[in-house]
Amino acid sequence: MRRLLITGASGFLGSRIIEYYRDRYEVCAPSHKEMDITNREQVLAVFHGFKPQIVIHSAAISDVGMCEREPDRSRRINIDGSRNIAEASAIFRAKFLFCSSDQVYFGSRIQGPHREDERGVPLNVYGKEKLTAEEECLKQNPECTALRLSWMYDTRTLREGEHGDFIRTLALRLRTPDILSYPVNDVRGITDVNEVVRNLEKCAELKGGIYNFGSPNDKNTYETVFDMFRELGWDTMRLRKDEESFREAPRDISMDQKKLNDGGITFPATLESLIRNGGNII
Ligand SMILES: NC(=O)c1ccc[n+]([C@@H]2O[C@H](COP(=O)([O-])OP(=O)(O)OC[C@H]3O[C@@H](n4cnc5c(N)ncnc54)[C@H](OP(=O)(O)O)[C@@H]3O)[C@@H](O)[C@H]2O)c1
Repeated sequence: MRRLLITGASGFLGSRIIEYYRDRYEVCAPSHKEMDITNREQVLAVFHGFKPQIVIHSAAISDVGMCEREPDRSRRINIDGSRNIAEASAIFRAKFLFCSSDQVYFGSRIQGPHREDERGVPLNVYGKEKLTAEEECLKQNPECTALRLSWMYDTRTLREGEHGDFIRTLALRLRTPDILSYPVNDVRGITDVNEVVRNLEKCAELKGGIYNFGSPNDKNTYETVFDMFRELGWDTMRLRKDEESFREAPRDISMDQKKLNDGGITFPATLESLIRNGGNII
């Protein structure tokens, strides 16, 4: 069995990667305590002991607000920590998959879907850190495959300590009488985390570089949810347009899939997956 090392084992994505691959790979998934990614010596020691052939680096400060509040800490983890993992992967000749984000397109004035060869224009601290981390990882390890993930969700029950996501927040709100508002000035992909997990394996065959990695979506978030409700026969009268958010500077971080598709990897469209999954949440 091939040896797979996963960082961020306790996280939303990392825990699902372990669950899916643990029977088909020899998996090493050190906890934060066992391998603090900001500690280069500790990282090298774990790599030396396990000698991974594939590395999926999902550990991060993924909370955008936390990055704004604690930029020094998030920089150490999101940039310096990623650099340590990239360097160790290069030394041990392991295929390195780095989890980046669609937030690198946040400040772009170009209309989406965005392509990987556009200049990244992040706006928030998190997006800036991810863009710098991509550059650092590729410098350390040109065979690094940096995956720009979109907003992910799962339909299963929230695990203890886990952050919420788009669909589980929706499921909770559906149990209240509240009107649900969604922004019209925000266009982005929203992706089933299980599709992400399944497709990760194929990324080991991709050439080094940057890849958009998630479901395509050309609708704004309000339209997306409206169409989902309509297709599922849910009450669209519960939905309201949020015209305020992103009004001054509409956001479009939707991602083009051509490069990924040319590499043999596809995701279903956001709406298609939401319709398929939506039935499971009520
Ligand atoms: N979730 C999304 O919708 C989304 C969208 C786009 C991109 N991404 C990216 O995808 C990746 C996975 O996201 P996620 O939602 O799974 O994140 P998450 O749930 O916040 O998990 C982050 C993981 O990183 C670990 N970690 C933090 N600091 C560490 C350190 N110094 N050393 C070792 N481990 C450390 C955490 O462990 P402790 O809790 O023990 O500290 C946790 O296991 C991240 O890189 C994120 O930026 C996520």
